[in-house]
Amino acid sequence: MSAPASAATGRPRIGARTLRDDRWWLPPLATFLGLMAFVVYGLIRTFMNAWYWVPEHNYLAPFFSPCLSAACVPGASHFGQPFPDLGWLVPPPIFVLPFVLGFRLTCYYYRKAYYRSFWASPPACAVSEPHSRYTGETRFPLILQNAHRYFFYVAMLVAAVLTYDTVIAFKGTDGGVGIGLGTLLMVVNVSLLWAYTLSCHSCRHLIGGRLTHFSRHPVRYWLWTKISWLNGRHMLLAWSSLVSVALVDLYVMLVASGAIADPRLFN
Ligand code: FES
Repeated sequence: MSAPASAATGRPRIGARTLRDDRWWLPPLATFLGLMAFVVYGLIRTFMNAWYWVPEHNYLAPFFSPCLSAACVPGASHFGQPFPDLGWLVPPPIFVLPFVLGFRLTCYYYRKAYYRSFWASPPACAVSEPHSRYTGETRFPLILQNAHRYFFYVAMLVAAVLTYDTVIAFKGTDGGVGIGLGTLLMVVNVSLLWAYTLSCHSCRHLIGGRLTHFSRHPVRYWLWTKISWLNGRHMLLAWSSLVSVALVDLYVMLVASGAIADPRLFN
């Protein structure tokens, strides 16, 4: 027989915060530390506002792409400079970050991750949360999470921009075609970013949602099976693309600053 439900909350009356005796707190703690490390790195890098462009090989750090401000160093703005130089408080990434962050922050996986690790709402399955009220995502500000599908379209655009950055990074020392370690890292990074973007739940719905008969839409069905395969790995892709963005950014910074040389595989 199940435990009697509390009239106020509809939940079973169990005194203990949880009956779990495993280390349930480990995943939210690891998530908290991982996301905080990325946020701290991102803030430092954004306001450092330097060493993001290697003209010899067209390496542009992903944190600064696209570089749309008049403050961008010469050669780094592949899509013009529509925004003015607003000083050190508004470095170039500020114009793009809201869209990139908006996509990640409203992502279904990241929502689960930071609701658990930052707000403890709830911290884990079968562990009660410290908050007395729960309104889900039905009111402001969390109702804005519904904008995720629109951020998805912008994320596609950003992935296309980073693809362009990667193509032009095949620039050799003599100005012709060449491949360096940086080129390879950028290829891996943009591949992970595309995989993460295409594995989005909104993308899966866009491709295969609202269909009554898959049999009448064989192409969409085929695409839907591929997207679904990626979607099953969404958490892995969310983390691997996050780490790869930071690592490629760090690599470009080290090369641009002269701290390391870019090993060349070809030209
Ligand atoms: Fe994660 Fe869309 S659900 S990116």
